[in-house]
Amino acid sequence: MKILVTGGAGFIGSHTCLEMLQEGYEITVVDNLCNSKEEALIRVQAITGKPLTFHKVDLLDRQALEQVFASDSFDAVIHFAGLKAPGESVSIPLRYYQNNITGTINLLEVMAHYGVKSLVFSSSCTVYGEAKTVPIREDFPLGAINPYGRTKLMIEQILADLYTSDNSWDIALLRYFNPVGAHPSGRIGEDPQGIPNNLLPYVAQVAVGRLPELHVFGNDYPTPDGTCIRDYVHVVDLALGHLRALEKLQTHPGLVAYNLGTNRGHSVMEVIAAFEKACGHAIPHRVVERRPGDAAVSYADASKANRELGWRSEKSMDDICADMWRWQKNNPYGYS
Ligand code: NAD
Ligand code: WQD
Repeated sequence: MKILVTGGAGFIGSHTCLEMLQEGYEITVVDNLCNSKEEALIRVQAITGKPLTFHKVDLLDRQALEQVFASDSFDAVIHFAGLKAPGESVSIPLRYYQNNITGTINLLEVMAHYGVKSLVFSSSCTVYGEAKTVPIREDFPLGAINPYGRTKLMIEQILADLYTSDNSWDIALLRYFNPVGAHPSGRIGEDPQGIPNNLLPYVAQVAVGRLPELHVFGNDYPTPDGTCIRDYVHVVDLALGHLRALEKLQTHPGLVAYNLGTNRGHSVMEVIAAFEKACGHAIPHRVVERRPGDAAVSYADASKANRELGWRSEKSMDDICADMWRWQKNNPYGYS
């Protein structure tokens, strides 16, 4: 099978390309490299010993995208490309709407034109907004709380409208919880530009001495140790979820949504302790004010993905930290 992967040079995309190459898929990546490096794809090919095709293309460049479809034929598309920082999206909302929504509409129009109607979309637990209870199920009410989250929700709605208009589409919405970790080879991993927004990349950069200390955003939440609880899912497990979703699309399920998470949460303090175990030294940290907009507890009910895709997360928090540490230690400045 030939798969087009948008945003395939990014964190989750590169790990997914690796697993797909290993399972024998043929892959073409389009990415504008606005938040990634081509080096990730070079390493994916080195690790697997298998080639992929890369086009440096922006989804906003409709003509360039058409050329990719005109020059090849694809069985399905996995659509990772997008901007993803909730905080940044509050400062530059139009850029988020333009990039994520217009980019997706361009992609869908070109796919329809070339008769490619099988899509896996990178959605997010952010579409649940502030869920009232945990674990979070796919049928919970939807509602986003920042422009980034609204782009994800709007794209889900656009895809639902598209499916209503033409039910020959097959679309899997994958709602990731907190993707973390790195490939066990230590050769590919997350390479955030600037100061990381997310907890684990921040912890990893403190561990390697690139940042002085971690700020723990609040320890007065109603949780056992007072720090927030999240559902951290290993990126290799997440990558495999995309392969299971592609297989599901072959059965023509229509429009389907799945949580990809671990069914459990870890607190910030538990994450710090696990990383300290992995790297063998203390992670300097200090409790500061709460970060606005953080829910106390969030984790998935991922049983639907288990029932319908045969997928479940296998890797533990210790695996996550060991793999992230290997990546960070071997590549203290990421791909650069
Ligand atoms: P990433 O930034 O590492 O990867 C996204 C890739 O898309 C990058 O390589 C970037 O260069 C590319 N891109 C962005 N806009 C583009 C455009 N207009 N044209 C072409 N390429 C473009 O992010 P990631 O963590 O790998 O996330 C992948 C997807 O998963 C995103 O859609 C993100 O919103 C979603 N997601 C991520 C998380 C997370 O915490 N990492 C959680 C839930 C959902
Ligand atoms: C985790 C916990 C922080 C950094 C984000 C997006 C969400 C989705 C997943 C894309 C929280 C605490 C963090 C730090 C800290 N992404 N923390 N110090 O907020 O659950 O979700 O990623 O779709 O949309 O919002 O993840 O990694 O930012 O935070 O104490 O320096 O770590 O308060 O409790 P979050 P995160």
